[in-house]
Amino acid sequence: MKKKIAVFISGRGSNMKAILQNIDSGCLKDLCEVVFVFSNRKDAKGLEIAENFNIKTVVLENKGYKRKEYDRKLLKLIEPYKPDYIILAGYMRIISKVFIEEYRNRIINIHPADTMQYQGANAYKWAYENNLKQTKITVHLVDEGVDTGKIIEQAVVDLRGAKTLEEIENRGLEAEHRFYSKVLYKVFSGQVKLT
Ligand code: GRF
Repeated sequence: MKKKIAVFISGRGSNMKAILQNIDSGCLKDLCEVVFVFSNRKDAKGLEIAENFNIKTVVLENKGYKRKEYDRKLLKLIEPYKPDYIILAGYMRIISKVFIEEYRNRIINIHPADTMQYQGANAYKWAYENNLKQTKITVHLVDEGVDTGKIIEQAVVDLRGAKTLEEIENRGLEAEHRFYSKVLYKVFSGQVKLT
């Protein structure tokens, strides 16, 4: 049985695009289907990409909501689609306990650094400012903290020779696009157990 996944984005959606391409004709083919793409921002560029793939999009702007109130509304909104997994791909909103509890061990995120070393936004900037020779991108489960959930798998990105922040970001993103689908393949095919 194909896993039903929901992809959550807030912006550009390049990781989401890589996942959609891999479902169409790559390593995720026949393993999962995207039941909808969700965004907390109606101007997220990735929404257009999802629509071009003929994927249903759902938007709930977060402005004016308290965190828990928002997540309760979101839970109601997505309930009919019954996703098996929530795949965060540049979803820039902290998820509250009410949501985590409903999808415990079924929310997966990609973080562009080693979550043991750096949590939160701007991880490539951190790598750049600290002159790192390599960084580790991390696919992890999402819990109540920010980038504190159980690590599923990490991949080293060689940063030697990358001189600008832009070069670091490009190198990292290219690795993310391959790595995220590879890890999802292992999870959905049962090669990696999340609990
Ligand atoms: C990626 O670097 C991802 O690791 C992080 O946010 C960025 C999202 O980029 N969580 P995109 O929207 O997938 O292009």
